[in-house]
Amino acid sequence: MAISREFIQDIHDRLDIVDMISSYVSLKPSGRLYKGLCPFHGEKTPSFMVYPDTNSFYCFGCGAAGDVINFMMRIENLDRMEAIKACAEKAGMTMPEEGYDDSLAKRRLRLLSANREAARFFNAQLNDEKNRNILEYFLKRGLTPNTIKKFGLGYAPDSWTALTDHLKSMGYSEQELVLANLTKRSDKNGRCYDNFRNRVMFPIIDVRGNVVAFGGRVMDDSKPKYVNTSDTPVYKKGAGIFALNFAKSNPDKRLILVEGYMDVISMHQAGFTQTIACLGTALTPEQANILSRYAEEVVLCYDNDEAGAAATERALRILARTNLSVKVIRPEGGKDVDEIIRTHGKDRIAGLISGAMNEVEYSLAALRYRFNILTDDGRLKYLTAAAEVLADSTHIETEIYTTRLANEFGISKDALLAQIEDARKSLKRKRAAQQRKEEQKIISSSFADKNNPEREKKLRAASAEERLIASLMRNPDYYKKLSGKFTPEDFVTDFNRRVIAFLIELIEGGYSTEVSMFGECFTSEEVGSITRIYLNGEEAANTLKECEDCIEVIKKEKAKSTDGFSGGDITDEQFADFFSKKNKDNE
Ligand code: UTP
Ligand code: MN
Repeated sequence: MAISREFIQDIHDRLDIVDMISSYVSLKPSGRLYKGLCPFHGEKTPSFMVYPDTNSFYCFGCGAAGDVINFMMRIENLDRMEAIKACAEKAGMTMPEEGYDDSLAKRRLRLLSANREAARFFNAQLNDEKNRNILEYFLKRGLTPNTIKKFGLGYAPDSWTALTDHLKSMGYSEQELVLANLTKRSDKNGRCYDNFRNRVMFPIIDVRGNVVAFGGRVMDDSKPKYVNTSDTPVYKKGAGIFALNFAKSNPDKRLILVEGYMDVISMHQAGFTQTIACLGTALTPEQANILSRYAEEVVLCYDNDEAGAAATERALRILARTNLSVKVIRPEGGKDVDEIIRTHGKDRIAGLISGAMNEVEYSLAALRYRFNILTDDGRLKYLTAAAEVLADSTHIETEIYTTRLANEFGISKDALLAQIEDARKSLKRKRAAQQRKEEQKIISSSFADKNNPEREKKLRAASAEERLIASLMRNPDYYKKLSGKFTPEDFVTDFNRRVIAFLIELIEGGYSTEVSMFGECFTSEEVGSITRIYLNGEEAANTLKECEDCIEVIKKEKAKSTDGFSGGDITDEQFADFFSKKNKDNE
């Protein structure tokens, strides 16, 4: 990759990391840094930090870290070149025409165009007289020809190689088709065959209008019911949202989240064009974050069965960590919205939406299914559980719903409020314990670093290396005075040796030594580790003398690690160490 270092430096000078991340995460200032809820893992207490001084971010919960470019890569699921492009655009810069290798971006474009051709191919099958029954399938399910066209629905023929042959004849290689997951390669004989066979096809289109994946459904009761595109260079399942390309521009800032492809399509046909589905069963934190970029409110409308209720509970927990407000509909009158529309018409849906419950109402209603409130015991259990729900709600909600429950069940409001207060205290204790556990996890994981697997075992050496690295990143001018005193070869751990070698290259070339520069030679995850090193360095060696001490430790540790006597100068301590080990071996 040959995008110039100057260009990356320029992006950094022009893009304000706080501004940029704020458009995805709501950040609050906290001293010299900004805090927010991490968009890359689910959490209730903020452990995601943005450091404007150093143009970097770091999550103490999941270790996600890096600069604006890394942030862009992760949040938009882009490769490095695309992320640089996106950041450059935000910074109002134009990409250099030549001089950078865009082979990855080109390959993605090839996969996207293969997908588009596949969608065309599947759709064209519907015009074929011999596939009349397929078209009938859609029509029987109540879809109009217009809807079929709008969603680009299609049919994957009952053949092992129809699509693969077709796309190969258009010039796509088997390798490209396998990468796109349109084609699979047999482990046994290496032959290629179509991933989707004899299925009705639903293309998944991203907000930029690219066909990124497919879902294929059987037309009878055979299993598996759906085959879906797995993760590919252009698609990440956990971030896929069906029909967001249509729903993204909803003026009322509200999205209706349903379970299946068919639910979405029926809803759009009935005029509810803000409907989407998060594919796969469980809503992921990543999908929830994407939704929060396009809406202020999400109406959950999962299937009217056990699985739907469980999915609703899960989704509520995940959505609670975003700033979306949430409403819930139980689609009574059918097993899902698709069926309700067909049996009762779209007005029923409009009614359900206007009567949608807020989270508290939904949770209270869901409890009613769990307990038999016709018995005393059931009423007792229901009210105890209801108090737990209200313990986690606002004071106004508590006020409203305790009044309602007290009236309905003929008990005193004070008794209920006392119960809620107890529940609140125990919830608080539980949360505090949970948080302590999480913090503990972070502390104990702070010795391990999967990018530097030697770190844990050679902690003394690795720490000294890291302090030296951090110090030189912060004070590149020290290098002049230190350069004769060590070389990367002195480093003990392989990862840190790579880091220091590249850092020296940057310093000698007069480039910025910010975290961002490392993206040129290190993966996103590795840049995360470098960010950690850099940030920890705040309390580390910051004077020349301290750097010299680090070098001394590194060299000592190196001598130790190169096995006993061969390492040159050996201290008494090492000598003793060596013999005590030997003696142990002989015991
Ligand atoms: P449903 O079984 O409710 O399917 O699964 P559906 O799309 O509503 O289909 P109809 O109404 O029976 O035709 C809901 C969603 O869960 C995913 C699909 O995204 C589906 O749309 N799913 C379901 C799978 O990915 N694989 C499966 O085997 C089943
Ligand atoms: Mn369904």
